[in-house]
Amino acid sequence: VNRQGFTLAIITLSDKGYSNLRKDKSGPQIESMVEPILPLSWVKNYILPDNFSSLKYLLIHLAQFLGVDIIITTGGTGVYPRDITPEATLEVIEKRLPGFEQAMLFTSLQKTPHAVLSRAICGICKKTLILNLPGSPKAVRENLESILPALKHCLEKIH
Ligand code: MTE
Repeated sequence: VNRQGFTLAIITLSDKGYSNLRKDKSGPQIESMVEPILPLSWVKNYILPDNFSSLKYLLIHLAQFLGVDIIITTGGTGVYPRDITPEATLEVIEKRLPGFEQAMLFTSLQKTPHAVLSRAICGICKKTLILNLPGSPKAVRENLESILPALKHCLEKIH
């Protein structure tokens, strides 16, 4: 897609963040963790409410229309009634990547038993890698750490 570097979209799912009731720390944290691993030519941050259609159509727009290389979502993976990130992601991906999901779960279970509550999905839509992460900055750090070493190789293979 581009020879200069990879394109990254970060989507924060948070009713409170969307209403400016909470400052988004997880979005910037994702960018600062990915930056040293991948050369990036374009990064954009989005904040959405926990709304199924909003997320589904943003994912389709970014993956199918813009063709961004990687989309990382944060939040909405848990068991609150309004958590819909995994459901919207499942409707968009064509191939699932259970290895990414299980690597995150395995690492996270060594940090907290609450890791079982994350339903995060990872997969591919067209040539876009889509990764769900939980919402808190701590969970973002612990989950992302476990898959960063495989990220560049995965993106190179997708193209
Ligand atoms: N994974 C790690 N590594 N560290 C954490 O602190 N928190 C868990 C889980 N995964 C956590 C974690 C908790 S408490 C929840 S509710 C789920 O992620 C879902 O988080 P989300 O609803 O913010 O997406």
